[in-house]
Formats: sequence, C-alpha cells, structure tokens
Amino acid sequence: MEDQQVLTPETKTESGYDPFEIQAEFGITKHMGGVDATDILAKQCRIGAGSHVLDAGCGVGITPISLAKQYGCTVVGVDIRDSMIARARERAQKQQMADKVQFRVADVQALPFEDNQFDAVISESVLAFPEDKLRAVAEYVRVTKHGGYVGLNETIWIKPPTPELLEYLAHAGSQTQLLTHEDMQALLRANGLEVVLAQAYEISPRQEARAQIKRVGWGHILGSWWRALKMYVTKPAYRAYLQDALGTPKEAAGYMGYGLYVGRK
Ligand SMILES: C[S@@+](CC[C@H](N)C(=O)[O-])C[C@H]1O[C@@H](n2cnc3c(N)ncnc32)[C@H](O)[C@@H]1O
Repeated sequence: MEDQQVLTPETKTESGYDPFEIQAEFGITKHMGGVDATDILAKQCRIGAGSHVLDAGCGVGITPISLAKQYGCTVVGVDIRDSMIARARERAQKQQMADKVQFRVADVQALPFEDNQFDAVISESVLAFPEDKLRAVAEYVRVTKHGGYVGLNETIWIKPPTPELLEYLAHAGSQTQLLTHEDMQALLRANGLEVVLAQAYEISPRQEARAQIKRVGWGHILGSWWRALKMYVTKPAYRAYLQDALGTPKEAAGYMGYGLYVGRK
C-alpha cells in the first residue's frame, strides 16, 4: 500500500523533543478508556467478520491488530508519522496479521481513499491534533459506505480549562486543541451523521493505568519499561519528556475526560 507524501506536523516542545516520535520509538500509543472503550465503539459500529474498517490516526497499530484478531475484520490503519507506520507494520508482521491489516502514511484531513470504501471508520484520540477538525470528520464520512458508521473516542474538556492548564498544554508542545462534549456531537451532525452514541466519561488515573495494561499486556509493558530505561540513560530528549509528563498539573484529570461518539451515515 503506497504511502502519502505528507508534511509531518511540528510538535516539538520547548525542550526540543517531539512526544509522538518518542512514543513511536517506545512502541506504545494510547487513548483514554483502553480496550473497553474500543470494544464499545466496535460493537456500536457493528464491526464483524466481513467488515472493512479504517483506523484513522492508528499510532503504532495496536487497535487495528486487535480489531482484526477479535472480530475477524480487515483493517487499514493510517497515521501521519512514518515512524508510527513503521512500528505498526513491524507489529503486524510479528503477530502474523499482515494478511488482515495494512498500514499507510496519510493525513486524516486528506485521506487517500475513494468515497464509500469502509463499513466503519474508527478514530481514537486523534482529533485534538489536526488543524481542520471539520475537514477530518468530513473525510471520515466521505470514505464510509452509506449506512456505515464513524466511531470516535476523543479526549474532551469536561470543565472549562484554567489558564495554567492551557499554558501547560502549550508548553507540552502539542498543538493540542480539545473540544467539548457538545462540540463533538455538533461536529458529527455538521457532517450529516445521525448520532447514535454520545457518552462522556471522567478520567481516573488509576483506571487509565489498568486500562493500558489490559490493552497491551504485562509482557509489552515490561519490555517498554526496559526500553524506557535505556532511552532515559541515552537520550536527553526522553528525560525532558518524562519530566514534563510527571509535571502534568494534578487537577488536569478533573478538567479532561473522554467521550465516545458514533454516527451513522
Ligand atoms: C494519541 S495518539 C493515538 C494513537 C492511536 N489511535 C491509539 O489509540 O493508540 C495520536 C496519533 O494521531 C496521529 N496524528 C496526529 N495528527 C494526524 C493527522 N493529521 N493525520 C493522521 N494522523 C495524525 C499521531 O501521529 C499519533 O499517532
């Protein structure tokens, strides 16, 4: 599958690292709610053995591979970073899933697919990043078959953020722009979808940690810790990344949550 020529977005922090490049090297990307949230989306989107699914902004490919294993569907995963796609391809080869899952570098704002190709488009923790969110959702809808589903899991503001929190996010480098629960539903409706699920959740750090372990398993977590230790010793950018991550304002969890949204075309 041919990769799109895309300009990788500039998401370097003040301390000079790109959190996404570090996550790609680390081999783990994530979204709130873990595999349980993905299951809700998959079921609401009626994903089954014959489904052809797009995972938009798939990171290192964890969701496409687990959807293909669990539901027997075929999945195409796209991500704007070639480092993520390289990891995702490695993962599919290692787990002998390359016949069911394909990966491609592409920007969700300009998907390289014909109209009406997929039974369902899933996207988890991505919409905060593209500049033109309306365009991204319009692209999800365009490539979905009539009667098919678009299922989104997005981090949202559940309370208006404080200036300190906004400043922290800006310093953390990402051009992250979170939407609210209402914005998310409006975005789906503006693109002509019938909203069949809209559910907001609060974040509990402990539950999130459990959800991540359940998603990738202890073996992978231990492997990642070992890789993290090596990166900590050899890479100053990774040390800066960890310092920033540990410096996340404690009250952030009270302002941020996540929402699951499913729209029918
Ligand atoms: C927080 S990670 C989530 C990854 C994955 N969905 C998961 O749940 O593990 C966000 C991902 O979105 C990708 N991304 C950001 N902007 C994008 C865009 N415009 N087009 C495609 N992917 C994008 C990033 O490269 C990153 O891999």
